[in-house]
Amino acid sequence: MTTIPRECTRVSTPHNDRLLRALRREPVDRTPVWLMRQAGRYLPEYRAVRAKAGSFLAMAKHPELACEVTLQPLRRFPLDAAILFSDILTIPDAMGLGLYFVEGEGPKFERPVRDAAAIAKLGVPDMETELRYVMDAVRTIRRELDGLPSQSRVPLIGFSGSPWTLACYMVEGGGSSNYARIKALALNDPKALHALLAVNTDAVIAYLAAQRAAGAQALQVFDTWGGVLSPAMYREFSLPYLTRIARELPRGEGAQRTPLILFGKGNAPYLEELAGCGCEGLGVDWTVTLEEAARRTAGKVALQGNLDPAMLYGSPDAIRAQVRLALDSYAAGHGGSREGHVFNLGHGLSPDMDPAHVAALVDEVHAYSAR
Ligand code: CP3
Repeated sequence: MTTIPRECTRVSTPHNDRLLRALRREPVDRTPVWLMRQAGRYLPEYRAVRAKAGSFLAMAKHPELACEVTLQPLRRFPLDAAILFSDILTIPDAMGLGLYFVEGEGPKFERPVRDAAAIAKLGVPDMETELRYVMDAVRTIRRELDGLPSQSRVPLIGFSGSPWTLACYMVEGGGSSNYARIKALALNDPKALHALLAVNTDAVIAYLAAQRAAGAQALQVFDTWGGVLSPAMYREFSLPYLTRIARELPRGEGAQRTPLILFGKGNAPYLEELAGCGCEGLGVDWTVTLEEAARRTAGKVALQGNLDPAMLYGSPDAIRAQVRLALDSYAAGHGGSREGHVFNLGHGLSPDMDPAHVAALVDEVHAYSAR
């Protein structure tokens, strides 16, 4: 009897490609599901690794630890994708702003950029030196995923913040409740803000291209704070830069193309424009029904979303009912078909959520969509 070399079996066995098929709007046996912030503090095994590492940044900068926490949610739930464990603020950190975290207060920068002079000094970081730890994490996770049994061998999603969302943190120096500094900059020195958004866009394109080269099989841009802008300002300071990423990011052709998902909180007013900007998928929050989003995007892109994360505070039965409503809502707006839907939340999981409730959500997506 001849033995098949291990490498051969790996290459020939099928992997779970529901996510990629859905993003190409091809038929799938079940609707794929993954969850923003699926790795994080709601998991006791994450808290254990974090306690040992000392901090979130120590984990993110250590490829083996980043790989371990990326895979943790996949061991608990039959998720259809892994997402790189990292942060959107790695780019400004590598630009020299000095990222740090204050317990209970979230991310902060030692050296925020507040004027044209500071912005003019910014450059695109080198991806294989200054951001090498991110690419090493991608390579390590891919190696681990490729060794898993076929149904657990899911695609790896790489990600970045949007130029506008990164600029919010870079100018405000951390999180903000009113975006006073960056909105003042938009009004008083729009040229400087455009210069910042331009360098951020160059960096995002280089960063996503490097993650793809390192092995990421789908890419997502988080425009978390696009929704805080007025329509006129969104169309001036966020949309054009998202469009540039969608048009300029090299990602292959046909079935080999690496899909790009643009997620935006509060992007419902702009769905038609976003669907025409060149991305493969749009991530939407719960302020729009999937039925309406599907109608308005008319099959031009796949849709990802959009359960309100707060639904996870309900009972498992209530969560299952909400999952069915979201699945049916998408189908109602898409001619009765589930093609082109990636199930997700409308924003990330929170640390106080119950893993058993997450399990109910994931199982119901698969069970109900298989019928
Ligand atoms: O989704 C995933 O599982 C992948 C990992 C991921 C993290 N951050 C890990 C993380 C992703 C995709 C992000 C993106 C990110 N980071 C965004 C965009 C998405 C969103 O949530 O809107 C933003 C705005 C950030 C900036 C940031 N980093 C914030 C606001 C925080 C939370 C601070 C806090 O104390 O809650 C972080 C830290 C962070 N990034 C954590 C995790 C798991 C918490 C780290 C910890 O304390 O252990």
